[in-house]
Amino acid sequence: MKNVTVITHPLVQHNLTRLRDERTGAQEFRRVLSEVAALMVYEATRSFASKPITVKTPMQKTRGCQLRREVVLVPILRSGLGMLDSILQLIPHARVGFIGLKREETTLQATSYHKSLPEDLRNFEVILIDPMLATGGSAIAAFNLLAERGAKHIRMVNLIAAPEGIEKVREHCGNFPIFTASIDRRLNKKGYILPGLGDAGDRLFGV
Ligand code: URA
Repeated sequence: MKNVTVITHPLVQHNLTRLRDERTGAQEFRRVLSEVAALMVYEATRSFASKPITVKTPMQKTRGCQLRREVVLVPILRSGLGMLDSILQLIPHARVGFIGLKREETTLQATSYHKSLPEDLRNFEVILIDPMLATGGSAIAAFNLLAERGAKHIRMVNLIAAPEGIEKVREHCGNFPIFTASIDRRLNKKGYILPGLGDAGDRLFGV
């Protein structure tokens, strides 16, 4: 699929399988999701723009590079929180925004109940974080909130994506990069991903 990168690294796939396994309890789920998030973001940031700079080592001047733009991580509440800590360890200078979205049970529409983002996102690399890309409703709503703040460099990291969700996101948000560990089979009638891993928020927080 266009501009969707499936990260096939064996460590990512190994961890994905542990997360799918219904025997994996909340404590282990939290740890493994956090581990896999860092591995995925390592791949997802490979194309970050950088600029050449010169630094002086204790020995002599040398050429190096630095990231061209500031980074903001935007987990979608609540399950995006499960991927945040390890990504922050990888990019400790990143800022963190939050988007809270609730899915209406009957219509499956996403409505926003919380938003905290830098005012002007034009010069930021934005990483939108959500373990599950299901119907695409949350991703589209989040993308629109980011676009309202001027974001131009958005990429999204989803542990698992449904083909229907990817289609919907492409239809409404264009071709921004999506990184996932798996494009699963399909959604069920309730908007859950098959085979998926169940409700990521419930698995994480043990509700
Ligand atoms: N959200 C989840 O947590 N799981 C799904 O399968 C779909 C949406």
